[in-house]
Amino acid sequence: MPQVFNRHSNTIARLSILGGVASLFLVAILAYGMVRSPYSTGQGIPYQQPVPFSHAHHVGGDGIDCRYCHTSVTTSATAGMPPTQTCMNCHREIWTNSPLLEPVRASWQTDQPIEWNRVDDLPGFVYFNHSIHIHKGIGCSTCHGRVDRMQITYQAYSFTMQWCLNCHNHPERYVRPRSQVFNMDYKAPDNQIELGHKLVRLYHIERKVSCSVCHR
Ligand code: HEC
Ligand code: HEC
Ligand code: HEC
Ligand code: HEC
Ligand code: HEC
Repeated sequence: MPQVFNRHSNTIARLSILGGVASLFLVAILAYGMVRSPYSTGQGIPYQQPVPFSHAHHVGGDGIDCRYCHTSVTTSATAGMPPTQTCMNCHREIWTNSPLLEPVRASWQTDQPIEWNRVDDLPGFVYFNHSIHIHKGIGCSTCHGRVDRMQITYQAYSFTMQWCLNCHNHPERYVRPRSQVFNMDYKAPDNQIELGHKLVRLYHIERKVSCSVCHR
């Protein structure tokens, strides 16, 4: 049988196939990188806000409890955002001339709420509920990181489905005593797994991984 391709064109064919496969891989890797990059998950990106509100000052410095501002976090699906009234409880008296607080005073005078930009925002097809997590001993810092050290609030973790499932599959690795849920300094003890299994029984924590838990 005569050779259809000579040696030379054979090499070109091989090279171009190789090149094709390589660029396919490259596209796949780039696409994967884009899907999982902080840019698309929003992780770690500080948000521009109408007022440069600092949790580091108010929580870390002044020791104000999360529930003072996020009042519905223990009782409902959403944590809730503080109304301007809450800011004015203090800022009617202190820092009253600060230019940084001008939008707060304007909001107070015009009765228009401050429009905070959302930092943590799941897609609409995902259901989430704060109160059950709080009730079952999952700390704020486990999901939001060291908020008490944030000058500008950012999303601490990826909030991908895999991230949620990692805990739903192994709650004993993360659960803490209920009394510690709001403690930003809490560190898991050396015997976390042992303690975790105990708390899982005590709080009747179930492994909730079926799709309808979060997609309903
Ligand atoms: C003095 C009021 C105040 C206190 C106390 C406070 N926060 Fe906030 N929090 C705010 C305001 C105002 C915003 C909106 C501006 C921003 O994102 O920084 C916010 C935003 C957030 C966000 C981002 C919300 C979003 O858009 O997704 C998280 C998470 C958060 N707070 C967690 C906490 C935790 C955890 C604590 C306690 C350790 C806490 N906060 C204490 C006022 C407060
Ligand atoms: C199991 C993880 C988890 C825990 C624990 C948790 N959060 Fe959240 N938080 C989230 C997620 C996810 C969102 C985004 C919800 C959405 O987009 O619907 C969010 C959103 C928020 C928001 C924005 C407003 C809202 O309700 O959507 C605030 C404020 C907040 N959390 C504060 C807190 C505080 C304070 C605590 C501790 C008492 C806490 N969170 C505990 C995961 C968690
Ligand atoms: C319990 C009292 C209290 C409440 C409530 C409070 N703050 Fe403050 N805020 C302070 C104190 C005290 C300071 C001084 C700065 C510091 O703590 O280092 C401050 C400082 C600030 C500053 C910096 C001002 C400057 O010129 O440097 C901003 C901005 C601010 N607060 C915004 C807010 C907003 C927005 C709210 C409502 C969501 C709020 N604060 C609620 C006590 C409070
Ligand atoms: C660090 C641990 C942890 C993380 C992270 C976590 N969860 Fe959970 N979640 C729990 C625990 C514990 C329960 C309580 C299970 C039970 O009912 O006993 C729960 C319960 C739930 C429920 C309530 C189920 C019901 O019966 O109503 C929903 C919805 C939910 N989680 C959604 C999410 C979503 C969405 C995410 C990610 C954005 C997430 N969770 C991240 C630990 C976690
Ligand atoms: C513990 C909560 C949780 C459970 C259980 C869960 N999901 Fe998800 N799912 C999420 C979250 C959060 C997202 C959004 C992820 C993001 O924005 O990156 C998501 C996104 C998705 C998407 C969109 C594509 C993607 O990956 O972003 C599909 C499809 C999906 N889930 C299917 C399922 C199926 C099928 C099951 C059951 C086998 C399931 N999910 C169980 C939390 C959950």
